[in-house]
Amino acid sequence: MLLENNRKLFIDTTLGSGGHTRALFDAAEIPIQILGIDKDQEALDLARGRLKGEEGVTILHGDFANLDEAVERWGVSKRVDGIIADLGQASFQINQPNRGFSYQLNGPLDLRYDRTSGKTAAEVINRYSQTELTEIIYRYGQESRAKRIAAAIVRNRPLYRTTELAEVIRKACPGAHIYKVLSIIFNVLRVEVNDELSSIKELMPQAFGFLKPGGRMVVLSYDSNQDRIVKKFFREKSRKCICPPELPVCICNYKPELKILTHHVIKPCKEEIEANPNARSARMRAMEKL
Ligand SMILES: C[S@@+](CC[C@H](N)C(=O)[O-])C[C@H]1O[C@@H](n2cnc3c(N)ncnc32)[C@H](O)[C@@H]1O
Repeated sequence: MLLENNRKLFIDTTLGSGGHTRALFDAAEIPIQILGIDKDQEALDLARGRLKGEEGVTILHGDFANLDEAVERWGVSKRVDGIIADLGQASFQINQPNRGFSYQLNGPLDLRYDRTSGKTAAEVINRYSQTELTEIIYRYGQESRAKRIAAAIVRNRPLYRTTELAEVIRKACPGAHIYKVLSIIFNVLRVEVNDELSSIKELMPQAFGFLKPGGRMVVLSYDSNQDRIVKKFFREKSRKCICPPELPVCICNYKPELKILTHHVIKPCKEEIEANPNARSARMRAMEKL
């Protein structure tokens, strides 16, 4: 594929079923060209259907942590006008029992975005030591009952099904907050299985490098671990001065590399949450490269 000319260029680093890319094509008033990437082959099949007939789209299987490889395969050497990252899991993944993303649906403990490689959630649950389980539950879930939950898992394993794991957690933490605990534990497993936070850390500088001056990046996060990485990256690149704090005047002549467009994180409105309950925890940040 080599279209370009005066087309505006975009990268959708989390193509999913193609909703954002579809919306970009629908909203564009001039011809555009988009590279769409996803780790999940099923997502790519859905996106292909939704984007059928769009000559400006290139769909590639891959991890956004390796964005440079994907851009090389795309073959476009110019820097791009916009990049989007809609982090986390897609609705179609949550709703399919055989993917294991939902504690409400009976399915295998898988939780991989890319089912062609990597460890499954069952491997994490059944092979990690009690200390390792406690550590990931605490680190990614900030869950104060991490030790108790890890001990219950170790006592009851092997566990292979989502509902088996949910039952063990229910018994370990009875009470009104059980749904919150269950969603925290499944979130922790998804982050660990897919090495999500490392991928986001790899993505940010690469994406920034592919933007042209004036180009924009929008990131949607769904938990505080993801959002913290994005916020930190935006903050560091938007700094106006790197002088030591004890200096009375600035001497560094440092130039910020980006402008933050969302001074406060943007959350979905009531109508949006009603239309799509999976969006309730979304947090959006945007920046413009200087
Ligand atoms: C919230 S969904 C995106 C939905 C999409 N914006 C749409 O409108 O249909 C997130 C997608 O990112 C994908 N994903 C998660 N981590 C990824 C990674 N490291 N590299 C590439 N894709 C990833 C998931 O497989 C999932 O399809």
